[in-house]
Amino acid sequence: MIRNDGGETSPIDTTVARQARIYDYLLGGKDNFAIDREAADQATAAFPGLVTWARNNRAFLSRAVSYLVAEAGIRQFLDIGTGLPTANNTHEVAQRIAPQSRVVYVDNDPVVLVHAQSLLASSPEGATAYIEADLRDPDTILAHARDTLDFTRPVALMLLAILHVIQDSDDPWGVVGRLMAALPSGSYLVMSHPARDIQPEQVAEMTRRFNQRTGNVRGATRTRDEVARFFVGLDLVEPGIVSTPQWRPGTGIHPAEEPSYAAVARKP
Ligand SMILES: C[S@@+](CC[C@H](N)C(=O)[O-])C[C@H]1O[C@@H](n2cnc3c(N)ncnc32)[C@H](O)[C@@H]1O
Repeated sequence: MIRNDGGETSPIDTTVARQARIYDYLLGGKDNFAIDREAADQATAAFPGLVTWARNNRAFLSRAVSYLVAEAGIRQFLDIGTGLPTANNTHEVAQRIAPQSRVVYVDNDPVVLVHAQSLLASSPEGATAYIEADLRDPDTILAHARDTLDFTRPVALMLLAILHVIQDSDDPWGVVGRLMAALPSGSYLVMSHPARDIQPEQVAEMTRRFNQRTGNVRGATRTRDEVARFFVGLDLVEPGIVSTPQWRPGTGIHPAEEPSYAAVARKP
């Protein structure tokens, strides 16, 4: 069942590049337009590691969800900034290990809503739902998520490659704090975030090029200290806040650092 926030679904705008469609293009998907491909190609010219960055981000999602289900016993996920469906969506990774897992997806891009049906193919034992809503409106997200998730039991809040579009003026730390405050002890925060302090010149130029083409969705890459502020009061799971491909990469694998941070933390 698709749930939305009660508002009108905005029409799909093909004149400005959108993050969901750029990311789809970087991952080799087909749900993107010329303006998105141009934005991605321009940004890739400034930062050639961008396609690898997108793949590494998806790989982190799989590793983090697998860890949470298999090792931490989590069975509920609130995945905000879901993106267009691709391989290994959160419910697929979780339900492969624990079919009873329940996943609520949230995104504010109308293109994601159009394709949300494939996010809703839950195992019969579990459940999935899709909410069209904005991360900056956590109260609406929480109100609808309660229809599918039991907030008396631990939930993993997933915020992967989304917080960089929330400007400091919209208080992303406050938004994350309000979401985590609604979740019980034993819940988790899972995050990946583009870094401003690794390969800073390339990242600054890539961000500038993105911002030229993405209308009002402006990128705000952050430093390690700024990312660490999201985790105040939470217990970081080993290895802490690291470059995304270096988060539990697997025995004997030593990936290079890239300009993004990832971490998983438990609410005490
Ligand atoms: C780069 S994609 C990341 C997808 C997925 N989380 C992942 O890491 O593979 C970011 C997604 O966040 C969504 N998004 C951006 N701003 C948002 C907002 N304010 N509220 C909800 N979703 C948002 C975009 O539409 C896009 O689908």
